[in-house]
This record gives sequence, structure tokens and C-alpha cells, in this order.
Amino acid sequence: MPKILITEPIPDDVIDYLKNFASVTVGNKGTYQSEETLIRDIPEYDGLLCMLSTPVTEEVLSAGKNLKIVANFAVGYDNIDVEAAHNLGIKTANTPDVLTEACGDYAMGLLLALSRKFKDAEQYLRDGNFTGWEPLGFLGMELRDRTLGIIGMGRIGQAFAHRARAFGMKIIYNNRSRVDEQKEQELEAEFISDHKELAQRADVLSLNCPLTEETHHLVDKELLDLMPEHALLVNISRGAVIDEAALAQSLHQNQIAGAALDVFEEEPKVHPDLLSAPNTLLLPHIASATHRTRKDIGMLAAEAITSVLEGKPDNEIPNLISR
Ligand code: DGY
Repeated sequence: MPKILITEPIPDDVIDYLKNFASVTVGNKGTYQSEETLIRDIPEYDGLLCMLSTPVTEEVLSAGKNLKIVANFAVGYDNIDVEAAHNLGIKTANTPDVLTEACGDYAMGLLLALSRKFKDAEQYLRDGNFTGWEPLGFLGMELRDRTLGIIGMGRIGQAFAHRARAFGMKIIYNNRSRVDEQKEQELEAEFISDHKELAQRADVLSLNCPLTEETHHLVDKELLDLMPEHALLVNISRGAVIDEAALAQSLHQNQIAGAALDVFEEEPKVHPDLLSAPNTLLLPHIASATHRTRKDIGMLAAEAITSVLEGKPDNEIPNLISR
């Protein structure tokens, strides 16, 4: 019987499904966030179902003498050395589509919470400062007629754009390539080829792109300096798309009006200057965290593993990552 390692506890239905095909080991939270433990244990497994926090490096993959498939419990896969896996003949898979709507909802939720100051207003009440209705208390940015600038107009960027349209926002976007004309028309979205122009024109800047060499620190001091003072920043992609030190400085100096961050450069660490920054929401990477979506993510990753272990051809394996 093949052996599968799941690096963290995931929904039971997924584990039960995999047990029909293989002997399954589920790691404890945090155990496989280091290369050492992975290198130690990976040699005995045929399949790896890992988290976005699992460092699947070349060394780990090379140690996986029996490893045939690595399936990420996430759509982003910057934690996997895909090139090395390919060279070693190990297949890789991710989980697009199933988390799109949950992430779109979440981005909209972050924007509403940030623009209407939910966190500070709630804290004010809890601190016993609410002594009566105040005409000038916690005035926020109304989204209607404001411009949402999206960097990364893939599935999740589009899901956010759809929701923002319903709130009366105008959409501008940047993407590696333009989305098709019909989609642009549906969203009344304007393509902006230059990040700098996008940052200058957006009232809200949202990051929905994968982390790559090109997008690493894409939001740096230079870009932040171009954003209007009233602008808000939302990031549910990957932390390292932002230079966190530069962002913290910009927030502390009120050069932008706030940020909602679900992801961080060195998770689970959070830059200390972000912890003290004004109007900043900091969340523990939970954009896809609904019961339904997390189960769907797990099942998709599990199906990729079982398909490979059953010897199916590549075109029958869901969501193989191509180099
Ligand atoms: C993913 O799946 O890559 C996302 O980070 C979910 O939040």
C-alpha cells in the first residue's frame, strides 16, 4: 500500500478519502514547517499533501526517494521548488478555483472593515469610550464611486472586482496579460500597463498576484510614495509582494490611510512596526478559511495524489502545475 504524508491536520473527510487508497500519516501542527523534519521523514512516502507553510525545497524533494506527487493545500505554490520537482520526476499540483469565492468574499470583508474602521471603533466601545452617538466619530471612506486598483486579475482578483462593482466601485487593474474583452466589459475594468500609474489612481490598492521573482517587493517605498494619502491597501496574496518595512513606515507617517494584511513576508512573524501602525488590520492568513472551501481544497489536493498513485495519465490529474 502506498504511503501518504499530510503535513498538518486537515478536514476529516479528506483524510478518510485518502485512507481508501493508502496508509496515511497526519503530522502535528508546525512539525513540517522546517526542512529538517521533512528531509528526515519524506524518504518513506509516495505522496505528500502539504501546506503553504511547508518548505518543499530541492533538498526535501531529493530526499523523497519514493515521492511521486506533491499536492499543495493552496492555490499559491511559492513554497514548492517546482523546477526541482520537475527535474526529479515528481509531479506537483495546487488547488485553484475552489477557493475563489471564499477569497473574494474575504477581500471585500477586509475592505469594508478597513474603510469603515470596524477594528478601532469596536475597541473604542470595549474600552468604555462610547458615551453617545457622535456625528464626527469614526468617519470612513465610502466605497461608492471610488477606484479599486487590482494587481493580479486572475480568478481571485476578478471575484473581488465583481463584489466591489456591487458596491459601486470602478475597477482598474494590472495583470501579466490583459483579461479577455468580455470579462473587461462585464467588470467595466480598465487595464493599466504601469504599476505606478495604477498606484497613483487607486483609492484602494489590492494585491491578488502570485509571489514570483517579478512580484517580490513590488509594493516598495517608491510605489507607496505614489499612492494618495487617503488610499487603502489590501493584501491577500503573499506577504513578500510588499516590502513590509517600507509599508510600516508609510503607515506610521500617514502617507497612506490604512492597510488590511492577511499575509506576511516571514509568516508567522509579523513586522513589529506593522503591529503598532495606525488603521492596520492584521489577520492570520485566513482568506480561504471556510468549512466548505477548506474541505474542497483538501479533496482537490487528495484527488491529485490518488490519480498519480493510480498511474493515471497527466491529462487526468487535476491541477498539475506546469513549469
Ligand atoms: C492560497 O491558497 O494560496 C491562499 O493563500 C489562501 O488564502
